[in-house]
Amino acid sequence: MSKIHLETPAGNSEILIQRNGLDEAREWIEQKHPGRRLAIITDSNLNEHYRERLAEVFRDAIVLVVAAGEDTKNPLDAANLVKELSKHEFDKGDVVTGFGGGMVTDLAGFVASTYKRGAHYTAIPTSLLAMVDAAIGGKTGVNVAAKNDMGTFYLAEHVLLDAELLKTLPKREFNSGMAEVIKYAATLDASLAKDLMRDELDLDTILEKSARAKVSVVQQDVKEDRLRQVLNFGHTFGHAIESQSDYALLHGEAISIGMIQANKVAQKLGKQQPETDQMIRRLLERFELPIELPKDMTVEDLLPYIVRDKKKSGKEISFIIAPEMGKYEMLKLTPEELMKMG
Ligand SMILES: NC(=O)c1ccc[n+]([C@@H]2O[C@H](COP(=O)([O-])OP(=O)(O)OC[C@H]3O[C@@H](n4cnc5c(N)ncnc54)[C@H](O)[C@@H]3O)[C@@H](O)[C@H]2O)c1
Ligand SMILES: [Zn+2]
Repeated sequence: MSKIHLETPAGNSEILIQRNGLDEAREWIEQKHPGRRLAIITDSNLNEHYRERLAEVFRDAIVLVVAAGEDTKNPLDAANLVKELSKHEFDKGDVVTGFGGGMVTDLAGFVASTYKRGAHYTAIPTSLLAMVDAAIGGKTGVNVAAKNDMGTFYLAEHVLLDAELLKTLPKREFNSGMAEVIKYAATLDASLAKDLMRDELDLDTILEKSARAKVSVVQQDVKEDRLRQVLNFGHTFGHAIESQSDYALLHGEAISIGMIQANKVAQKLGKQQPETDQMIRRLLERFELPIELPKDMTVEDLLPYIVRDKKKSGKEISFIIAPEMGKYEMLKLTPEELMKMG
């Protein structure tokens, strides 16, 4: 069991890394918000697996189940959840808990942050991606015209990282989440590379180091995009690849190819040791992640998405590379320069 404290001007978060930690999560809520009611927001897949366990641990909680899948992360489903909370005469002093992958924690956090201008919010992420990324750092949101184009900053007061919950996560989803862990290994914490190469993974250590890496970035100011740039390693190409695949590739799979594209740029500029590229490839391959563009995709296909990215920032693209494991550097490049080297 270990704890990480995230303190920011926008609020604080306590992150608990604990196997079979649902009871501890409940106790934390009961102690901080005695006598308050609890609403758990989850999705249909999680409900299949954990309905009984949730009922056993969170005896009096209202459990609100939404359909699994990214399509549910929209303002109408959010409004329906608000209606449910209203129907149950939920008060802003009561507690909303998101129990699920990043879709659920983004949606539940959004609902909690807007319900009567802000109810209490805690998170129990259940996918690897949500544990190491989505549920930490305060970004919530739903999709309207684009991904996460309606959202808030709202830190979960308590986040439980319970590796036991990963036992029911489909392998492809698990591997996809590993892409974000490999991103931390490449840019922020080289020691993670060794943890990831072990025959028997120590998931608690991997969760803790990953959470610490994300916390180290968002610690100073959760709202400052400039400080968050390092988290974009692999994501400039990755987002473009994800969109161009029409989301046939999972986020982590697209990011995996994106990290290799970023390595190509770094190699061409002579800014990365060859061993670093080799190590990142080895880690990605260990988790069966793709490292090459799908056969029907070319680097040129990605240009429109990257140009759009640049329009948003109005300048050259801030592009992150990993000169050596655990280190990062930000380059300013035009989309055309990126295309030539990627
Ligand atoms: N807020 C942030 O900072 C941030 C960062 C990264 C990603 N995100 C968001 O996270 C979302 C993606 O997260 P995701 O990959 O977890 O997607 P997801 O929540 O859709 O989960 C993926 C699939 O795994 C299932 N699942 C999750 N945990 C399970 C478990 N323990 N057992 C069995 N099945 C389980 C889900 O039902 C779903 O089918 C996107 O909406 C993305 O925008 C947010
Ligand atoms: Zn990502």
